[in-house]
Amino acid sequence: MNHRPIPAERLPELLRRMPKAELHMHIEGSLEPDMIFSMGQRNQVPLNYPSVDALRQAYVFNNLQEFLDIYHAGTTVLKTEQDFYDMTCAYLARAQADNVLHTEIFFDTQTHTGHGLSAEVVINGLHRACMDAPAKFGMTASLILCFLRHLSEEEAFECLEQALLLRDKIVGIGLASSEVGHPPEKFAKVFARARELGFRLVAHAGEEAPPAYIWSALDVLKVERIDHGVQAIHDAALMRRLAEEKIPLTVCPLSNLKLQVFKNLSQHNLGRMLDAGIVATINSDDPAYFGGYINENFTQTFAALGLTSQHAYTLARNSFEASFLEASAKARLIERLDGVFASLE
Ligand code: ADE
Ligand code: ZN
Repeated sequence: MNHRPIPAERLPELLRRMPKAELHMHIEGSLEPDMIFSMGQRNQVPLNYPSVDALRQAYVFNNLQEFLDIYHAGTTVLKTEQDFYDMTCAYLARAQADNVLHTEIFFDTQTHTGHGLSAEVVINGLHRACMDAPAKFGMTASLILCFLRHLSEEEAFECLEQALLLRDKIVGIGLASSEVGHPPEKFAKVFARARELGFRLVAHAGEEAPPAYIWSALDVLKVERIDHGVQAIHDAALMRRLAEEKIPLTVCPLSNLKLQVFKNLSQHNLGRMLDAGIVATINSDDPAYFGGYINENFTQTFAALGLTSQHAYTLARNSFEASFLEASAKARLIERLDGVFASLE
């Protein structure tokens, strides 16, 4: 949609105010240090850090694996359905403050079943918060279960089996955790089964691993969106395919910065992705660990790359188009977005 260009100093306010969807956020990665401490106390789980500040200061990572190790330690405080509900409500409140109107929340059942919890406790707690989202937070929320790719395909099958008892509470299946050495092909059969069962499919690919992982996420797993996908920049044929087939990328700039995928934000390739006609979106990934929620990702990335209000509109619109909402809901949200841009003076 065409709109009057706005001066650069008014851009941060527009970025904050514009309606948007978030499509790549791991709920366990929204657990803030103070919540880790309060839940740890409530559930009598000892932590290896003496204080909230000491924990926050440990959030310095050289790569994905270093982050995953600390992230996993944080998840040990989650014990009850109420914990999953409370964690999700805390995220939804933050998302509402950032004008998120729809969110598709990732979670890893296997992390929690590995700690002795049942899949029901996890999924019921998360789902109850999603059901309360419209009334409590003025937004919609749905759930995407991510298999952990460092575990076996057999374990992913078990996880899928457990989730089937709660089939209607989950919209999609994804693939997360340690990427390099665990290519999409490892999960070909379980993704084929999830597809037969009618789940929407996504996968992390090309976060740290080469473009071949993105090709096989598309051709072998048959996913509809690629999470991250920033390594596609090294493969011109893949870039053309992503643009031509309108395959959305859920890009997470502050995550890429914290995990040293890019040395600084001004080197991020999001602007080049948009210029190539790729349906990119901006997301927060693990906001409690990476220095900010979705609006912080928008404002810092726009400042570093010199993006404009036209890019802002494109990114927000892409977020609704790339969501798993039905067409009428997408149209309503895009209308609200258009209203904001039409009223710019
Ligand atoms: N799990 C949580 N955050 C992740 C990320 N950025 N990449 C892969 N798995 C994750
Ligand atoms: Zn992620």
